[in-house]
Amino acid sequence: MAPDRETEPYIGLMSGTSTDGVDGVLADLGGGSIRVLASAGLALPDGLRHELLALNAPGPDELARAARAANALADCYAAVTHDLLARAGLPASGVRAIGAHGQTVRHAPESGYTLQINAPARLAERTGIAVVADFRSRDVAAGGQGAPLVPAFHAARFGCGAGRAVLNLGGIANLTVLEDPVRGFDTGPANMLMDAWVLKHLGLPYDRDGAWAAQGRCHDGLLAALLAEPWFGLAPPKSTGRDLFSPAWLDGRLAALPAGDRPAPADVQATLLRLSADTIAGAVRRHAPGTREILACGGGARNPVFMDALARALPCRLTTTDAYGVPAQDVEALAFAWLAQAHLRGRPACLPAVTGARHATIAGCLYPA
Ligand SMILES: Nc1ncnc2c1ncn2[C@@H]1O[C@H](COP(=O)(O)OP(=O)(O)O)[C@@H](O)[C@H]1O
Ligand SMILES: [Mg+2]
Repeated sequence: MAPDRETEPYIGLMSGTSTDGVDGVLADLGGGSIRVLASAGLALPDGLRHELLALNAPGPDELARAARAANALADCYAAVTHDLLARAGLPASGVRAIGAHGQTVRHAPESGYTLQINAPARLAERTGIAVVADFRSRDVAAGGQGAPLVPAFHAARFGCGAGRAVLNLGGIANLTVLEDPVRGFDTGPANMLMDAWVLKHLGLPYDRDGAWAAQGRCHDGLLAALLAEPWFGLAPPKSTGRDLFSPAWLDGRLAALPAGDRPAPADVQATLLRLSADTIAGAVRRHAPGTREILACGGGARNPVFMDALARALPCRLTTTDAYGVPAQDVEALAFAWLAQAHLRGRPACLPAVTGARHATIAGCLYPA
């Protein structure tokens, strides 16, 4: 495809809290269109994945380790970028900018910071393309949560006013209520606790198709203990991450159960799946009661057991973004392509109604080509 005056190719690169890999899209954002031209993904190499997960907690020599991990992550981003260019048949010079999220290793907006490790200068150097990165910190500086970042994009792509909401099922679940004004917030864990539990007990990065959870039974005592977490009762705006919903959070609640009533590992997995489904459904009931249809996206949309549990728990219809023309796996990466364009155009994309900031801000920081 040769670039012409009409097309405005942007690349979006996302690596979310699941720490599973990089999702990328090359999209045409010219003339108000939002169209995926190519998508590509890369699983993080095991060593980098473990290091990024380890960097979520304090540890020795963490500054130098974070710098090295950031460089390795930027090299993965560059590999996905080159893959996208090859798939679309575009030269690097045809792309306006890359939006690269980086890897969140701390998220503490209430303490005034959120930290995505990334090496945008290295990515610009390796690709010859301008990079927009560090999308969250300006909103946090303005008193916001710095999250979720995607609602403005969801509104632009899926429209407002038809009783729809977008539900991203990554490590964390976040909901965008497509009303005017658009709202959005995190509901709690989606896959993160399930991933950690299956890694601990079966050595697998995730419970493919929910097969292990399907073998277990939800443990009511554990579910009640998990649901007692005060964060679930907070009103939006709110966001969360590994800082709260960590394996230690789960272990603490398991240890507090009566000794004779400890669930088997598969039952814990089934309970975690129910926790995710029930907290999402509860958030829809409480904070988005006008929702008639939910469009799911992210990796959790590929887990049929999770989707079944959600469909049962939700008070409305459930489908995926595929039904509206965007593959569920591409939505988040496409959002970062769109956010890069919003940055270059000086368009504020962090919405105060979503993040709780004092005012709207332009997301990101530019590293020229
Ligand atoms: N076939 C599948 N079965 C079950 N879970 C899946 C499947 N495919 C992806 N997932 C889940 O989705 C997660 C990745 O989702 P993703 O949208 O990339 O999240 P994030 O943005 O947090 O990285 C995986 O860690 C896994 O839990
Ligand atoms: Mg991911």
